[in-house]
Amino acid sequence: MRIYLVGMPGSGKTTLGKSLASKRSYIFVDLDERIVHAEGMPISEIFNQKGEEYFRKLESSLLQATGAEDNIVVATGGGAPCFYDNMKQINHMGISLLLQIPVEQLASRVAPAKNQVQTRPLFAGKNQAEIIETLQGMWQKRAPFYQQAHILLSPKDIKADKVWQ
Ligand code: S3P
Repeated sequence: MRIYLVGMPGSGKTTLGKSLASKRSYIFVDLDERIVHAEGMPISEIFNQKGEEYFRKLESSLLQATGAEDNIVVATGGGAPCFYDNMKQINHMGISLLLQIPVEQLASRVAPAKNQVQTRPLFAGKNQAEIIETLQGMWQKRAPFYQQAHILLSPKDIKADKVWQ
């Protein structure tokens, strides 16, 4: 069985994914980490040096490759389900869960802590108001993809551990 977590940046895919994987004794797969490993550089560098299109193609092919693995929980990158026909692929390969979190909560989570650098290139150099605006625009475009997920989880569901087990 394969479980895919989808949702906006900062929605908690990695945290939930790790806990779900450990509960089920599955392997946790972080798609962003696989990309970084494959390229040998941070995501921000891949965007800078090779561009977003290159990143999206690599992301898509590494996503598809997870279809050959079993007993995994995959935290996808926020954009992964929204390019090519990736959301369809995800639903074909396994069970998908959307972490549906309000933009205001996301904004505080994607903003880097003091003295930390922004690791997500889509928010680089943006202040809090600009981050909120960017997240709102992203949600508008991405919701139709995300909402194709098999199971939609609200913050309440996640907190109450009402996650599909
Ligand atoms: C992106 C989200 C990031 C990462 C990249 C692009 C996006 O992953 O894949 O910076 O387009 O939303 P997270 O959702 O883990 O932040």
